Amino acid sequence: MKHLIAPSMLAADFANLQRDTEMVNKSDSDWFHIDVMDGNFVPNISYGMPVIKAIKKHATKPLDVHLMIVDPDRYITDFKNVGADILTVHYEACTHLHRTLQAIKGADMQAGVALNPHTPIAVLEDVIRDVDLVCLMSVNPGFGGQSFIENTYKKIIQLKDLIEKSGATTKIEIDGGVNDKNAGKLLAAGADVLVAGSFVFKSPNPTETIAKLKGI
Ligand code: DX5
Ligand code: ZN
Repeated sequence: MKHLIAPSMLAADFANLQRDTEMVNKSDSDWFHIDVMDGNFVPNISYGMPVIKAIKKHATKPLDVHLMIVDPDRYITDFKNVGADILTVHYEACTHLHRTLQAIKGADMQAGVALNPHTPIAVLEDVIRDVDLVCLMSVNPGFGGQSFIENTYKKIIQLKDLIEKSGATTKIEIDGGVNDKNAGKLLAAGADVLVAGSFVFKSPNPTETIAKLKGI
């Protein structure tokens, strides 16, 4: 399978959200990556349901919603209602992860789990077959524009191994500090989905930058 590109809308121009959404529609990208931060699980606050609803109104590609919030179970149906197609929760924020994943699937979305840079792959051993997407954080969550953490390569290889041994079909997504310098190595290690925020939206020509990442 050709790898997927998911531009992170956190780096878009919020005063021109329709323009930036349409740019992503027309580009070679595959998903919209949408970061929701609650100022509690992570130190930053981003945006919530009304903004996702506004993006959904114009988006012609799936919304990959990354929840950096405590107790995400409270909002599963709300995120479905505003248009999430893939809903990712943090391992570190879920006491009953298995139940949360079932609830996401029960709401007719794909279920994702994100791991912080310090969280080992082994915590997913008993749940991997229930996970559609694992989002490996390659920065500490909370902000765009941070530097990529090199230990991520090792985690991709370990996760790929776990997925293959378990007979799972889980996709591996990399989130944070992705650019044209590390993308090739991430894909070679086994990544399926690359999230890119600053590298896309702060570039002179975001459409071309997406094409470049897709063409690697
Ligand atoms: C970080 C977010 C990322 C972020 C990526 O907490 O989960 O999705 O938007 O931004 P860049 O690509 O700028 O590191
Ligand atoms: Zn994210």
